[in-house]
Amino acid sequence: MSRILVCYYSRTGYTEQVAGKLARLLGADLMCIRERRPRTGIGGYLRSAWEALQGRDADILPPDTCLKDYELVVLGTPVWAGHAASPVRTLARQQRDQIRHAGIFCTLGGSGQVAALADLAQDLHQTPWSTLALTDGEIEVEGYEEKLTSFVAALRSRLNAEPAGRAGILGVDHGRTQFDPACLAPQAQPPAAERCRR
Ligand SMILES: Cc1cc2nc3c(=O)[nH]c(=O)nc-3n(C[C@H](O)[C@H](O)[C@H](O)COP(=O)(O)O)c2cc1C
Repeated sequence: MSRILVCYYSRTGYTEQVAGKLARLLGADLMCIRERRPRTGIGGYLRSAWEALQGRDADILPPDTCLKDYELVVLGTPVWAGHAASPVRTLARQQRDQIRHAGIFCTLGGSGQVAALADLAQDLHQTPWSTLALTDGEIEVEGYEEKLTSFVAALRSRLNAEPAGRAGILGVDHGRTQFDPACLAPQAQPPAAERCRR
């Protein structure tokens, strides 16, 4: 089993594509957040936007893997109405005590990444080791290798500085702090088929 889990929700496949690449680069396990009810059609779109705007929880299925077995959980979300997607927020809220350290990435049409990344950091009650935002345009042309590589390098260097298993065994404080959105600023400037079987 890997020390890293990449955990994502994807309605139309962009986040899934990035999650898959990340998992390969990190040598991580991969987990898709599943829901009881599909989000297809205009109804699914509107419900998604409404839940995101209201900060409502989604009806997700229990994760099929134990998150506390991992040293690092990388969460991936699409941006919905300027926020993180409700299924990912729900997972973060439900599992935050199981998540020792986190990285966060989001995919988006063009705006809302800072608030979406901050949503998840706040839901997790911890400052992520690193963050990444990628636009659909970048993903479509596969023009994000450099950003992906530096995200992976940042996560790896933090992980390498962390003795394996130490946090879980000694029960130490994992450095959970109040999240400062300013830490997202350097990565907050991206240029302007339903895959997750539920
Ligand atoms: C309900 C809904 C709201 C969205 N709101 C935004 C938004 O506020 N800003 C933005 O840049 N993109 C927005 N998007 C576009 C998605 O963030 C973008 O297409 C993302 O890559 C989709 O990821 P997915 O294919 O993994 O579901 C929205 C999409 C949906 C379905």
